[in-house]
Amino acid sequence: MERFFGEAPFSRLQPLPDPFPEPVYIRLFLKRDDELHPLVSGNKWRKLKYNLLEARRTGQDTLLTFGGAFSNHIYAVAAAGRTFGFSTIGIIRGEDYGERETPTLAFAREQGMHLHFISRTQFRNQTDAAFRQSLRHRFGPFYEIPEGGTNALAVRGTAEILPEITQQLGRPPDFVCCPVGTGGTAAGLLASATTETRVIGFAVLKGLAPDCIERLSSDLPGTSFKAPSQILDAHFGGYAKTTPALIQAIRDVEARTGVRFDQVYTGKMMVALFDLCPKGFFPAGATVVAVHTGGLQGRSPELDA
Ligand SMILES: Cc1ncc(COP(=O)(O)O)c(C=O)c1O
Repeated sequence: MERFFGEAPFSRLQPLPDPFPEPVYIRLFLKRDDELHPLVSGNKWRKLKYNLLEARRTGQDTLLTFGGAFSNHIYAVAAAGRTFGFSTIGIIRGEDYGERETPTLAFAREQGMHLHFISRTQFRNQTDAAFRQSLRHRFGPFYEIPEGGTNALAVRGTAEILPEITQQLGRPPDFVCCPVGTGGTAAGLLASATTETRVIGFAVLKGLAPDCIERLSSDLPGTSFKAPSQILDAHFGGYAKTTPALIQAIRDVEARTGVRFDQVYTGKMMVALFDLCPKGFFPAGATVVAVHTGGLQGRSPELDA
């Protein structure tokens, strides 16, 4: 497994020449982390890398994690477990819909993940000591990965994105952009950025933006953020919410770039970015890199309609 991760090539840094209908004088690139692995793609690959190595190092053979019925993280942990020889347990928010379960959960089961459904209230109280005890009692020893996959080891993985970009460009980018959910990807970019790069996060949850960076640095002790940064709202009505206008805007970005996005994370970031660029948000001549964090397993069929 060490060799496998160690040998993984850099993901592509794809230039997007002339992506806007009007002239905008920036150099825009996509960091194609969605291409890192066919099943464990995007930021999931980055976040799981050091967690899986740690699980292996400490002799754990079962991974346990948390997520919703559409979770990219559940999908990726199930696939990573199958690929690297771990048993996996998914603690899922909400009830078991049996035959009518989501494609994400059906895939996770196919990969061998054991799904355990808990109520939304219990899910919210997942750090509760008695609940923890019941999980140990029920499942025995396991290596736990938090919901969304963000912890200090995940940030060590996402901190590898920007050094790769810098090497590929021959210098640090002026701006690096990513979607923000739990903040693990933005934290890695920030932890590895020099003051030459400004980190722009696009928050896909309502109410996340203003104090997100402060919360991240207090949640992840030992992580210091020196680079300038900004978290912008890109929730378009709320987490995973869409409108026909948003779907059309994502389709327009896809048509102009020839790249596929999802409607929960990367599509929202790209639409917000494509809105900002012609308004002069980035100074002329700036090099701007947007990280494609994957998530295509959850892509809505509406985008292909
Ligand atoms: C495809 C995709 N992009 C971006 C994010 C947001 O990343 P983070 O939770 O590290 O902020 C997620 C969720 O974790 C995701 O699944």
